[in-house]
Amino acid sequence: MIYLDNNATTRIAPEVLDEMAPYLHELYGNPSSMHTFGGQLHKKIEEARARVAGLIGAEPEEILFTSCGTESDNTALMSAVESFPQKRHIITTRAEHPAVFNFAKHLSRKGCRVTFVPVDNLGRLDMDALLKALDDDTAVVSVMYANNETGVIFPIQEIGEILRERKILFHTDAVQAAGKLPVDLKRLPVDMLSLSGHKLHAPKGIGALYVRKGTRFYPYLIGGHQEHGRRAGTENVASIIAIGKACELAGKSINEEMVYLSALRDKLESNLMKLCADVRINGDTEHRLPNTTNISFQYVEGEAILLRLNEYGICASSGSACTSGSLEPSHVLRAMGVPSTAIHGSIRFSLSRYNTEEEIDKAIEIMPGIIRDLRELSPYGREKIRK
Ligand SMILES: Cc1ncc(COP(=O)(O)O)c(C=O)c1O
Repeated sequence: MIYLDNNATTRIAPEVLDEMAPYLHELYGNPSSMHTFGGQLHKKIEEARARVAGLIGAEPEEILFTSCGTESDNTALMSAVESFPQKRHIITTRAEHPAVFNFAKHLSRKGCRVTFVPVDNLGRLDMDALLKALDDDTAVVSVMYANNETGVIFPIQEIGEILRERKILFHTDAVQAAGKLPVDLKRLPVDMLSLSGHKLHAPKGIGALYVRKGTRFYPYLIGGHQEHGRRAGTENVASIIAIGKACELAGKSINEEMVYLSALRDKLESNLMKLCADVRINGDTEHRLPNTTNISFQYVEGEAILLRLNEYGICASSGSACTSGSLEPSHVLRAMGVPSTAIHGSIRFSLSRYNTEEEIDKAIEIMPGIIRDLRELSPYGREKIRK
């Protein structure tokens, strides 16, 4: 298998698996217990908290463990709405992941007013529209750090500086950025930041939410006293240890990996552009995650490409309907004004540290034949080939 779908999920790093494994069998205690068997796990949770904090330049007490990136995003927005009951306006973007996008829509049905700021044809945020939307009623602004479909990076520093001056709460969904880009909350004016374990070589079902010291916070899960009363529920100890280890590993190799992954990604991208006609890159190639490319192959269906790639054991994603688990084509590519023929033929390749140059060469060898065959089968494609 050649796995080029790392923005969907990643392989658990062997070092992470080794470190979490004992906590799935022999060390199964409850960290809230009075006895040593359970209580000793506290230390491991705090070690993991410090490691997650270390990756993003935070203090350990600013990190809450959650069950996933989605919970972190939902918690951040809900907390803002609960903490500022006199403010009913939420600002976010048209390019957000559903964890923010659909939750903001949900809050709009509960009486909030939501502004979805547009993006341009390169997926860049319309800063003027964001500035115009700000008002005294704004409880929170939530702008993703980097987009999961195109890899486009948003100007978080600039937005944060504006919002800090206006004293408006700022949340960023950094699920795709954490571990792929250096993030330093000592200089980044962000109040809340979400991340997720399974995007950085920890297991699925573990996430974290950074809440800056002094930020008003209202818990989403209410019950026991875990996480100092900020997130109830018995801790997922093994996965907390795993995300801690994964963050430590990412922090050590981030600069090297950025160089390695962008070289592989660029090789894949430039060769596909050269070898397959009528290709376009979706998104701002100047400000992009190093591991991601979103490419449209005109006159073919993304699903058909994925099925053919699958026959060769190559995994990727498409922005068209169905394969993404929804009936709608990508709302991100639509927000960018990508023509529907290009959306339907869009494929996202996303790499990780475990991809090799041989794998990329294999993908480069296979893709042009797949595209040629599929275009032969499509009436539009056939016409184009004849011309
Ligand atoms: C940008 C972004 N935010 C949030 C999420 C949700 O994370 P999780 O799958 O951990 O709930 C994802 C997952 O694809 C994502 O890419």
